[in-house]
Amino acid sequence: MSLVRKHILRITPYKAGKPIEETKRELGLKKVIKLASNENPFGPSLKAIKAIEKNLTQINRYPDSHSFYLKKRLAGYYHLQPANIILGNGSDELIDIIIKTFVEDDENIITAKITFLEYEIIAQINKKKIITVPLRDFKYDLKAIKKRINQKTKLIFISNPNNPTGTYVNKYEIEDFMQDLPDKVIVVFDEAYDTFIDADDFLSGMSYVPKRNVIVLKTFSKAYGLAGLRLGYALTKEIFASYMERVRQPFNVNILAQIAGESALEDDGFLAKTRREILEGKRYLYKELNKLGINYIPSVANFILIDIKRDGVEFFKKMLSYGVIIRDMQQYGLKNFIRVTIGTSKENKIFIDVLKKILHKRKELR
Ligand SMILES: Cc1ncc(COP(=O)(O)O)c(C=O)c1O
Repeated sequence: MSLVRKHILRITPYKAGKPIEETKRELGLKKVIKLASNENPFGPSLKAIKAIEKNLTQINRYPDSHSFYLKKRLAGYYHLQPANIILGNGSDELIDIIIKTFVEDDENIITAKITFLEYEIIAQINKKKIITVPLRDFKYDLKAIKKRINQKTKLIFISNPNNPTGTYVNKYEIEDFMQDLPDKVIVVFDEAYDTFIDADDFLSGMSYVPKRNVIVLKTFSKAYGLAGLRLGYALTKEIFASYMERVRQPFNVNILAQIAGESALEDDGFLAKTRREILEGKRYLYKELNKLGINYIPSVANFILIDIKRDGVEFFKKMLSYGVIIRDMQQYGLKNFIRVTIGTSKENKIFIDVLKKILHKRKELR
C-alpha cells in the first residue's frame, strides 16, 4: 500500500541535464563538456561575480523579502512599476506560483505537447488538468490552441521561443491569437530565451503588459549566465502580481541572487558578447551539420534540436562516453532526436568531432 497521494504517483519527474562532476565521477573522465541545459557557456558576467564577492559577508542575514533594489532596477529596465514585477527562485518557481494563484480545481491549463516539461509537471503536482496541443511543423499551433479553449480554461502557457524545438511564434500569429480571447483566460509568455532571438517578426508578450491578462516570464539562467543562483521574474498587471505575492514564499530569492541580478542587468557588454558568440556558434554548427547531411530544426534560441535518425538515448550515452553531455529527447516523446546547447567555439568543435567519430564508427561496423 502506498502512502503517497495518487496524483503524485502518476508524475514522471523532470530529468535535468547531467551534471559535469557526476559524469566525470561515473565514467572516470578528466574532461567533460556540458551542452545539455541551455546555460551560458561563457560563465556569469564579471560584474555579477564582483558584486557577489563584495556581499558574501551578508549571508548571515535573511534576504530582502521584497527584493526592493532588484525590482526597482527591473522596473526601470521595462518602464513599469516595481508592483508589476514578481521575483522567483528561477522561473520554474513562478510557473508554480502562477498555477497556485490562478487555477481552480475544476479549471484547465493549455499548452503545447512538446514544450518545456515543467508546465505539465507542475500542473500535475498541483492536481490541475492540463491539455496539450500538438505542434505544427515543430511550432506552437496557436490556432489549434485557441480552438481548445473552453469555459474552464484559465491559463495558457506559450514558450516563445519554444524549448526544446527552438522555434517561435511570430508577431502575426500572436496578434491573431490575442484577439477576442475570453476575459477569464490568462496567457503566460515564457521568454526564457528572448536575448538570443534574431528574427524581425518576433513580438514579446511585453507589448500586452500591463493592459491585458498576460504574464511574461523571464530568467537570469540563460543569457545572463546565472542558472546556479536561481533567479527569474514575472511581469504582469499590478493586481495579478499582488495576488502572486500572497503565494510566494517570503525568502524565495536569496541575497546573492538579488545582488548579482542587479549587476548582471547592467552588463550590456556581456550580454552583447554572449549573443554574438552564440549566433556565430549556431552558424558553425549549422554548417557542419549540413556537411554531414544531418537534419535539424532551425532555432532562434541557444540550442538546436537535431534529428539524429537513431535512438537518442543510445546516442546520448555514446556522446557521454566521449565526455560530451547533450540531452536525449525521450521524455519529450522525440525518440530519434537530441538537443544540443550552443557552447563556446571550442566546445562546439568538440561536439562536431565526437559526432563525426560516432557516425564514422557506425559506418565501419556496417
Ligand atoms: C522555456 C523555459 N522556461 C523556463 C525555464 C526555467 O528557467 P529557470 O532556470 O529560470 O527556472 C527553462 C529552463 O530550461 C526553459 O527552457
